[in-house]
Amino acid sequence: MPSPIIEVPMDKCKICNHDIEIVMRFGKMPIANGFICNIDEEEFFYDLSVGFCPVCFMVQLISTVAPKKMFNESYHFISSTSLAMAEHFKRTAEEIIVRIAGRKSPFVVELGCNDGIMLGHIADKGIMHIGVEPSVNVADLARKRGINVTNEFFDVKSAKAIVNKYGQADVICGSNVMCHIEDINSVFQGIDILLKENGILFFEDPYLLDIVKKTSFDQIYDEHVYYFSGLSVSRLAKRHNLTLANMIHQDVHGGSMRYYIIKGSVGSISESVKDFISQEELMKLNKVEGYLKFKNKVNKICNDLKAVLLRIKQEGGRIAGYGATSKSTTLLNYAGIGLKFIDYISDTTPTKIDKYAPGTHIPIKSHEFFTFDNPQYALLFAWNHKAEIFKKEEIYRRKGGRFITYFPKVIIE
Ligand code: TMP
Ligand code: ZN
Repeated sequence: MPSPIIEVPMDKCKICNHDIEIVMRFGKMPIANGFICNIDEEEFFYDLSVGFCPVCFMVQLISTVAPKKMFNESYHFISSTSLAMAEHFKRTAEEIIVRIAGRKSPFVVELGCNDGIMLGHIADKGIMHIGVEPSVNVADLARKRGINVTNEFFDVKSAKAIVNKYGQADVICGSNVMCHIEDINSVFQGIDILLKENGILFFEDPYLLDIVKKTSFDQIYDEHVYYFSGLSVSRLAKRHNLTLANMIHQDVHGGSMRYYIIKGSVGSISESVKDFISQEELMKLNKVEGYLKFKNKVNKICNDLKAVLLRIKQEGGRIAGYGATSKSTTLLNYAGIGLKFIDYISDTTPTKIDKYAPGTHIPIKSHEFFTFDNPQYALLFAWNHKAEIFKKEEIYRRKGGRFITYFPKVIIE
């Protein structure tokens, strides 16, 4: 008898509904920012895998976590924990101020304003603004800075409500927020409603080309539903009668891209869009082949890192993690690096201290504890802040402390 044909349902692209190709499966993962108060607490796990759409070129998570599980009254990611990021957002605000100069009663909207690290500069200048921030605790921090915040998710409905109350926006911006929103088609529809004819939307997120080149797979976690490129963002914009007009690379979060989007389909497109898309095509990010080596490279980094950690432990060395980043949740849980290797993770974020890392239950300790404890090795989870951290830890390193980094390969320095 012929065996019955089992039909496996294909996963569909969240943008264009075409079948997507799976690039990599990471298995069961806890919520990246789901720090727990005690180790008996029940944790939520989901399947982390990432896919590629061969039609609209969007790289995306296959299964996603309900937004309210991630962005709620106790969101642990506070933007103002790094001096370099504070500088970055100050420059972003300066760019906005230049863009709106000479406009009558300009209006600036920031999606995902977090604690107001950027929008504070706009509010300080008395410019009409609103931050759209679904996480209550960080929205409250922004309000304390005198920022006008609406505590909700951005979509067509909230876009209409903002227009009714304040009118259309001259600038809409968002940092590390667009890639979080699964229903991105609704966001782009909302932008079409909210943006003035001569207005501009710009947003930045970790850049797919950097992730693939560096194998920085730790950028892949529940909050990052999309891994944008010029290839995918240009198509996404076009679907909504918008145009990707410019791309400017940002040296933050391990390599981010800022995408500038204007209304209509006839605006002038900067050479940089063509240049970045050519580089992406050179890396074959428009074909599934471009992603085939990724999995092997990820596994090699994990194996190399574990071998280094094991050697240190066998030699009697002690290792602390540095920076309880969301990113580290993917690395630790996928590579199986837990308390056997890492005693604790040092972090400066008050809400993370004395909690436990998701999945691995490694305790989070204050930076003061790290300095007092002075372990021989620090595994640098906040690798995107390396320059700032090396400067801060000059004494630690001078006294013999060593940092371990792992992208694009494992290094002790
Ligand atoms: P991020 O990489 O997503 O920005 O998260 C950085 C994390 O690292 C955040 O929890 C704060 C922490 N951190 C430190 O503990 N010390 C530092 O010097 C810096 C820059 C960050
Ligand atoms: Zn698609």
